[in-house]
Amino acid sequence: MRPRQHPPLQQDRGIISVPGQPKSKKRKTPGKGLTVPTSIRTETPTDVDAITCVHDRAFGQPNEGCLIKALRERDDFDPRLSIVAEDSGAIIGHILFTPIQIESEDESYDALALAPMAVIPERQRQGIGSLLITHGLDTCRTLDHSAVIVLGHEDYYPRFGFQRASRYGIKPPFEVPDKSFMVLPLTPNALAGVGGIVRYPPPFNAV
Ligand SMILES: CC(C)(COP(=O)(O)OP(=O)(O)OC[C@H]1O[C@@H](n2cnc3c(N)ncnc32)[C@H](O)[C@@H]1OP(=O)(O)O)[C@@H](O)C(=O)NCCC(=O)NCCS
Repeated sequence: MRPRQHPPLQQDRGIISVPGQPKSKKRKTPGKGLTVPTSIRTETPTDVDAITCVHDRAFGQPNEGCLIKALRERDDFDPRLSIVAEDSGAIIGHILFTPIQIESEDESYDALALAPMAVIPERQRQGIGSLLITHGLDTCRTLDHSAVIVLGHEDYYPRFGFQRASRYGIKPPFEVPDKSFMVLPLTPNALAGVGGIVRYPPPFNAV
């Protein structure tokens, strides 16, 4: 596979800058009414250990942190799609969008998988995961990606526009409940004529 060159996103003091989006947000947390000052930005090389720690703590196991390490070794890893939530200098959340393919009998389509994502336990349910997803999807659009697949909670991801992937003829490569396997086209016609089985990169097999 040919290594891809990734020009940096426009950045200002490390805070991600997406057209139409504020550089940082003070946000009312859903359900709790607290204000959370959180910066959302692309990862830097010094964030790597803290990102692993976020996943270790959120999942209570090392698998997802190891997965991210393995994905970093791949030519198609794009650090612009590795986004952190930072509060008072500490990394408290992380989201990664990983290149995948949707393969039909005679065609292969490039897309992304939203995976993995984590927020440290004591900061969950304060809207930080939602901030990461919203900023992350904006970044995916800015970088001209076409669609994002997610395997996750059926009550959570539809609020960001995800729909059952089966509606588009897109299938998982393993047995999962239909309602948990979702896709979001990033432009209106992004999935026209697209269908097939999602192929995750090999490091996912170990999780
Ligand atoms: C999933 C996760 C990243 C969400 O982050 P968050 O900051 O708590 O998310 P938000 O505050 O924006 O939203 C909270 C919502 O997440 C929902 N949710 C999504 N996935 C969930 C999951 N796997 N388990 C529990 N709740 C989940 C909750 O139902 C809650 O819904 P509510 O707003 O109706 O109460 C966080 O709970 C986490 O790190 N969980 C452990 C790791 C994980 O399961 N990652 C996702 C799979 S890769």
